[in-house]
Amino acid sequence: MKVLLVGSGGREYSIGLALKKDPKVDEIYFAPGNGATDELGENILISDYKELANFAKDNGVELTIVGPEAPLVDGIVDIFQEQGLTIFGPSAKASQLEGSKIFMKNFLARHNIPTARYIETDSFEKASEFIDTLKAPIVVKADGLCGGKGVIIALSSDEAKEAVKGMLSGEAFGEAGNRVVVEEFLDGYELSVFAICDGKDYVVLPAAQDHKRLLNEDKGPNTGGMGAYAPTPLVDESIYKKLDERVIRPTLKGMQDEGMPFTGVLFMGVMVVDGEPYILEYNVRFGDPECEELMPLLKSSPSELFYKASTSRLSEVKIEFYDRYAVGVVMASKNYPYSSSEPAEIIIDEIYHEDLAQNSHISFAGVSKDEDGKLYATGGRVLVCVGVGDSIKEARDRAYMLVGQVHFAGKQCRTDIAYQALKV
Ligand code: AMP
Ligand code: GLY
Repeated sequence: MKVLLVGSGGREYSIGLALKKDPKVDEIYFAPGNGATDELGENILISDYKELANFAKDNGVELTIVGPEAPLVDGIVDIFQEQGLTIFGPSAKASQLEGSKIFMKNFLARHNIPTARYIETDSFEKASEFIDTLKAPIVVKADGLCGGKGVIIALSSDEAKEAVKGMLSGEAFGEAGNRVVVEEFLDGYELSVFAICDGKDYVVLPAAQDHKRLLNEDKGPNTGGMGAYAPTPLVDESIYKKLDERVIRPTLKGMQDEGMPFTGVLFMGVMVVDGEPYILEYNVRFGDPECEELMPLLKSSPSELFYKASTSRLSEVKIEFYDRYAVGVVMASKNYPYSSSEPAEIIIDEIYHEDLAQNSHISFAGVSKDEDGKLYATGGRVLVCVGVGDSIKEARDRAYMLVGQVHFAGKQCRTDIAYQALKV
């Protein structure tokens, strides 16, 4: 099978790496890919979705998998399907679950899915009134996509009102902030839970935990994610059951009933408060860096999983995971997440340790290659060192041993990934 992967990050690299090991796959294309994905397949520099669909048709691509949210919200799935192509991801309509926080919150409310108490509005007065009924901290969210930056946790009512003002005026996030969600702060621990969905059936993947802050002990600014691990011991059968009954089933049924069946990855950002799961947000794609840890745990054929999910036949496959753990540590460039950094050459030491070589790998993200084949750190999140093991500690030790083998000027990473699990 020929597979096309849309995206350029570590997430798409990790899916590519899993597909590379899949005997059913004989060719992989990345659009656009990065400076390392050309070692797994061929990078295709076509950004127009219609042209990309033509490329898929002309080259006999049987399955397209979309990594990031932007093409999904822009309707890439609809364009490919109009051409009769098989593509894994939700339609533009279904992608509103991520593309509009207001759509998502109103959907949750319509279907009685547990979430933080909220108001959505374009009126400063209405927002202020609601803010006055809440205790700080108070959460203010821009409606549209803001590259993961549209959420402000305000420490006082005044700060929350300022945040609303900044968003509604268009100053903070442009059009994405024309409407806002104001909601109560939920105090608990966060999980990333993923379900692969085919419109009606679904498979839940082992729950992961991301580390969004730049620095150890969850300090510093929010980032796209500095590391993750799976499965997390912070989830037990009772939480899976509650998620299944109160969240996943009503969501898939609701999307079906409302005429936009959900196919693709339903990414549930969950806050567990006193043993009860609440939905913070939905995304309509894999998390990055969570995907980098989930892919190596997948025992079943990834091409079959994504193909069957795209063709409403998920019930025909039995999905299995290795009974192991994976920990991923993001190595970021010097000025991340504030600004871009000078390109820095990446040197990776040869790994002689057999055990490490077999149980760890790198998923490359913000990297470019020069004419001589030298690799440079050119993006914010440069790469993810992933360790796999029979315990979280073993997986984490391997991930950090690999980190020690990777060098580039200005590199930064957290040294405490998976700390919540190791405390348990
Ligand atoms: P979101 O993009 O909605 O996931 O928000 C980004 C981050 O803000 C989440 O991962 C949480 O850490 C935090 N957050 C969002 N909403 C809330 C809330 N209601 N209570 C507490 N933290 C929140
Ligand atoms: N790691 C969180 C995200 O991909 O949004």
